[in-house]
Amino acid sequence: MSEGSFSKVGVVGLGTMGAGIAEVLARGGLAVVGVEINQEALERGRGHLEKSTGRAVKRGRLTEDGQREILDRIRLTTAFGDLADCDLVVEAVPERLDLKHKVFAELDKVVRDDAILATNTSSLSVTAIAAATGRPAKVVGVHFFNPAPVMKLVEVIGTVLTEDGAVDRVAALVRGLGKTPVVIGDRAGFVANRLLFGYLNDAASMLETRHATRDDIDTAMTAGGGLPMGPFTLMDLIGLDTCLEVLEAIYAETRDRRHAPAPVLRELVTAGLLGRKTGRGFYSYGDAAADAGPAQDGPPPSVAIVGDGELSRAFAAAVNAAGAPAAKVEEADLVVASGEDIDLAAVEGRAKDGAVVLGEGGLTGGGALAAHKPEADRPLVEIGVTPVTPPEAADRAVALVARLGLTPVRCRARRGFIVDALRFPYLNDAVAMLDAGYADADAIDAAMALGCGYPAGPIAEIDRLGIGRALDQLEYDPDEANPGVSDRLREQWDLGLTFR
Ligand code: 3HC
Repeated sequence: MSEGSFSKVGVVGLGTMGAGIAEVLARGGLAVVGVEINQEALERGRGHLEKSTGRAVKRGRLTEDGQREILDRIRLTTAFGDLADCDLVVEAVPERLDLKHKVFAELDKVVRDDAILATNTSSLSVTAIAAATGRPAKVVGVHFFNPAPVMKLVEVIGTVLTEDGAVDRVAALVRGLGKTPVVIGDRAGFVANRLLFGYLNDAASMLETRHATRDDIDTAMTAGGGLPMGPFTLMDLIGLDTCLEVLEAIYAETRDRRHAPAPVLRELVTAGLLGRKTGRGFYSYGDAAADAGPAQDGPPPSVAIVGDGELSRAFAAAVNAAGAPAAKVEEADLVVASGEDIDLAAVEGRAKDGAVVLGEGGLTGGGALAAHKPEADRPLVEIGVTPVTPPEAADRAVALVARLGLTPVRCRARRGFIVDALRFPYLNDAVAMLDAGYADADAIDAAMALGCGYPAGPIAEIDRLGIGRALDQLEYDPDEANPGVSDRLREQWDLGLTFR
């Protein structure tokens, strides 16, 4: 073995993450030894490996020969002793400290003294795992993201006990596997989970308080937030038990109520509904096709556009694209009114009976509904309802907006609707993380873009959206101490600076 390189790597635990990690290592040309506790678990692990590589073959991304080569590089065994000549062993067993201690004690006995032992823990302290071994200087964290073969980020964690060079060697290996390492200290949630889980927990609270439905929140974050998956689909993919563990670990360190697990998560976990892996979590899997959302068929409605506010301009473009007939306010099925000096009540007074009137966020007088279009190039329209909005008016608005080819969701007409209410606290967390010297802007952005498939990292995102909009959404008041808002955000605003 040459210094800084690894040729034979062990993986202990071949569940979703362990099997994914073994696949990544074997794809990188390394000899892999995969260890499971018994034959049954080993066969399950083999199944994960065959399914994942088989999927790549089906998609034409891998030849059958290539698949065989990858699988041949992975030796599956139930004997820890087979790890004896590994240069590195990655542990990916369930997240229980007693179990990790047992595994590391075993590894300590059988693996060469100069080998590095790594844990893929996402919620336990790497330091606590290292300290209990006979070689704490050789213990690091390597945190992969689900699905491991796809997500490009790997967080590499060194502790105060880790020897010089160990982290760099592991980071070099990660780079050689075609992934991007982000090196970080041993803090709960590292970078990506620390930012991701505040947002996921906020989404769960939003559902619990009936701000919006599961499907509308998921749709809003994909169609309007540009994320690859909505928060409930993602939590089901991660596993709700893991979500709960990660949140508990982060909450224990931050004591921030945003990290206190939403009760609904605990309920689902207690009930054994852990997400995709058990067939049911926030969603049920294996059922008939899910509801396709509001029907988009039917002729486009006649639309009247009043004013040239953001909402009116967005609808004007959609009306054009859908070939919807323009109509006078008095005759239109849908009236959209936004911009300066718009008297929404007067517009409403002119609309015909049964017409839907949409005004800009916050305007909810009379029968008009508040609507918000978060991003010019995204199809999402958030329709806000108040306690006095008749449900059939909201239903009609949803149907009309869908018939224009836009994507409607509904929620309570409160500040930030869904997308902004979820994303600005997350962006604020990222700025606070930067300010605390926890990680730099590039590491933070890489973590979210490469670990979670976000279209951009949070620091880039806040520059794009504007600090002013963030402060407004976070209800920043310059005359009051507002502990929720990162000082750094306020400073950047006062100095007129962007982050990059
Ligand atoms: N195994 C192997 N490959 C997979 C896969 C899997 N489980 N799932 C998807 N893929 C591959 C597909 O083969 C496809 O590859 P190709 O383009 O080369 O053919 C590619 O990924 C895209 O897959 P699909 O077209 O089927 O699906 P999507 O376009 O919907 O993408 C996704 C799926 C990549 C999972 C995407 O939705 C995504 O990025 N989601 C966000 C996932 C995320 O946030 N992960 C991090 C969770 S947090 C975590 O893991 C930390 C832990 O500590 C909790």
